[in-house]
Amino acid sequence: MKAIVFDTFGGTEVLHEAEIAIPQPGPGQVRVRVRAVGVNPVDGKIRSGVMEAIFPTTLPAVPGGEIAGVVDAVGEDVDHLKVGDEVLGWSDTGSYAQYALAPANVLAPKPAGLDWPHAAALPVASDGAERVLDLLDVKDGETLLIHGASGALGTIAVQLAVARGARVIGTAGPANQDYVTSLGATALVYGDNLVERVRGIAPAGVDAVFDAAGKGALEDSITLRGGTDRIVTTADFRARELGIVFAEGPQRRSAARLAELAQQAADGTLVTTISATYPLAEAATAQQASDAGHNRGKIVLTVD
Ligand SMILES: NC(=O)c1ccc[n+]([C@@H]2O[C@H](COP(=O)([O-])OP(=O)(O)OC[C@H]3O[C@@H](n4cnc5c(N)ncnc54)[C@H](OP(=O)(O)O)[C@@H]3O)[C@@H](O)[C@H]2O)c1
Repeated sequence: MKAIVFDTFGGTEVLHEAEIAIPQPGPGQVRVRVRAVGVNPVDGKIRSGVMEAIFPTTLPAVPGGEIAGVVDAVGEDVDHLKVGDEVLGWSDTGSYAQYALAPANVLAPKPAGLDWPHAAALPVASDGAERVLDLLDVKDGETLLIHGASGALGTIAVQLAVARGARVIGTAGPANQDYVTSLGATALVYGDNLVERVRGIAPAGVDAVFDAAGKGALEDSITLRGGTDRIVTTADFRARELGIVFAEGPQRRSAARLAELAQQAADGTLVTTISATYPLAEAATAQQASDAGHNRGKIVLTVD
């Protein structure tokens, strides 16, 4: 099968297409004929080698961890999925490939009304967003500040927080202000004088801060909160030295919750925005765009 492989850590130039063996599902696993793959910033971090201390990778490796596709083979001890089922979820072998293996219990049925790219955009972002909102214990009537509200994680986080009854202030670049507003947040451009500008919108202060950007906004967040309590980042590795919670794994990978959110996405009540799609062969270009970090929603690879 065709797959994208890297043999050494480095820039996107280390990614290349290769012919590798089609994997065989073991007990509890299914094999998925991949139709779309979510490209996540962590894919580039793993490729670059910066994750080696906390997330070691055996080379050569196939990147990627989330998929949408069709069940193609079923391992032992799997009784709720069959060949031909359309699914979305997490894969345990790299997903930048024509076939990937996945634990059967982390796959949700793909609603008919949800296309492949939008299905592949959902697992990692929805799991991460909900995990952080739970860590922050965001409640009805509270004010939440989200840094990076226009990205894949931010897009889902804004909507799930609004659904909890929170008022959301979301930062993004100038080009994404209307987009963040459309998700249900009060939009702000990130950058200088953020503390004053947030206070202008929320004079009583913010109850919690979700940093989904990792671009140096933790100090401002501490000032706004008057301490480190109820601030969580998914992206700023300075978190520990500042006394801030870094939301690291494990992901929950709940198939039941993913199924609910996929249905909402199919119904149009949860927006999953695709910033760009690329064919599998252009994975390096897709990761360049992901590494650049200015994406409205999710980058997705499509697989023929
Ligand atoms: N720990 C976990 O469980 C977990 C799970 C998922 C993701 N993550 C991490 O969370 C981060 C976000 O992921 P993602 O998929 O949402 O990334 P993404 O789609 O690339 O989004 C990045 C966001 O950051 C914003 N941004 C760019 N430059 C900024 C700046 N200087 N100041 C403030 N915001 C800025 C972008 O806004 P504009 O595009 O409008 O400029 C965009 O909203 C990544 O580092 C990812 O690895 C962690």
